[in-house]
Amino acid sequence: MIYLDNAATTAHKPEEVARAVYEAIASGHLGNPARGAHDYALAAFRVIYRCREAAAELLGVDDPLRIALTANATDGLNRVLKGLLGSGDHVISTVTEHNSVLRPLYQLEAQGMELDLVGIDARAHLVYDDFERYLRKNTKAVVATAASNVTGNPTDLPRLARFCRTHGLLFIVDASQAAGVFDLNMKQLGIDVLVATGHKSLYGPQGTGLVAVGRDLAFRPVFSGGSGAHSFDREHPVTLPDVLESGTLNTPGAAGLTAGIEYLRTTGLADIRARLNRLTGAFLEGVRDIPNLRLYGDPDMPGRAPVIGLNLGDLPSSEVAALLNEDYGIAVRPGAHCAPRLHEALGTREQGIVRFSFSPFNTIEEIHEAVAALKDLSTMTGGTT
Ligand SMILES: Cc1ncc(COP(=O)(O)O)c(C=O)c1O
Repeated sequence: MIYLDNAATTAHKPEEVARAVYEAIASGHLGNPARGAHDYALAAFRVIYRCREAAAELLGVDDPLRIALTANATDGLNRVLKGLLGSGDHVISTVTEHNSVLRPLYQLEAQGMELDLVGIDARAHLVYDDFERYLRKNTKAVVATAASNVTGNPTDLPRLARFCRTHGLLFIVDASQAAGVFDLNMKQLGIDVLVATGHKSLYGPQGTGLVAVGRDLAFRPVFSGGSGAHSFDREHPVTLPDVLESGTLNTPGAAGLTAGIEYLRTTGLADIRARLNRLTGAFLEGVRDIPNLRLYGDPDMPGRAPVIGLNLGDLPSSEVAALLNEDYGIAVRPGAHCAPRLHEALGTREQGIVRFSFSPFNTIEEIHEAVAALKDLSTMTGGTT
């Protein structure tokens, strides 16, 4: 099987990740990270803290306690959006967002928050002038993905950060497709809150994610419960990271996520990006002239994520993905990718999009096989190569 669905999750992890998860459990030495002060509890606490440190270093955050560990990006985004925004606030987001941003925002909208979504142009670039156009007196935040999980188009984060700074807005970024792919120094980029999932390009296990907080912000706890401290208070703690965490953390997952981030550090982000660019470039080069193949987004955009969305003629994306799986042993994802507003904007609500997404563990040979398979399949649409 050639696995080209890395935007869904990286199936191939660095070996150290598997080893770290195994050892966290097999050692028999990890207690509950925030419950008690015996050696086993402290050992687990250190595993958690090490993960916060690794993430803080990756994202340019000074204090590891500004990193909260979550179950995934969806968990983190719910805690952040519902913990910072509410009735009377106005928020500007974009049509390129994943449902893990859109649905919490819709929930907040139903409770009295106001929402505008910036649209896209023909190459799926955000219409940046519309951020200014949508600005209101009560605008509180901009919420944007760092890169589309359907087209791979990156968002101009410095531009949005400038806009937020000029107008005193919070800048909240969903970095699920970008963490571990782009250099995301929050301080340099001017990001206030960044949410990422652990199991994609950070190479952690599923069930991991994080929120990084760049400056002092007053979060309301969305979930409350055990935090291991202040047990007689009726309220969940409002200090970081506890306000964004509740219940026992995923210590083996954190051990694996640390190993994933360590892999990025030791390999070097620049090296990983170069590998990803090579794979993405070779794929684009190969598919560009395939008859009846339509690419979405802007393939020539510099700094794009290693995600390519395409269709073959009018073939349903699900049929193309099924044929790739069954006849060629290639795993890709069809359908809507949890990004409904983007599909509406692209006109692909019915057909969906076939998404190819790469990781540094893919090889050029795999890319060539995928291109050859698409050439083959294009003949079904009447294309001759
Ligand atoms: C851009 C984006 N945001 C958020 C998510 C949600 O990630 P998770 O399912 O790990 O919560 C995804 C996952 O597909 C994504 O691509």
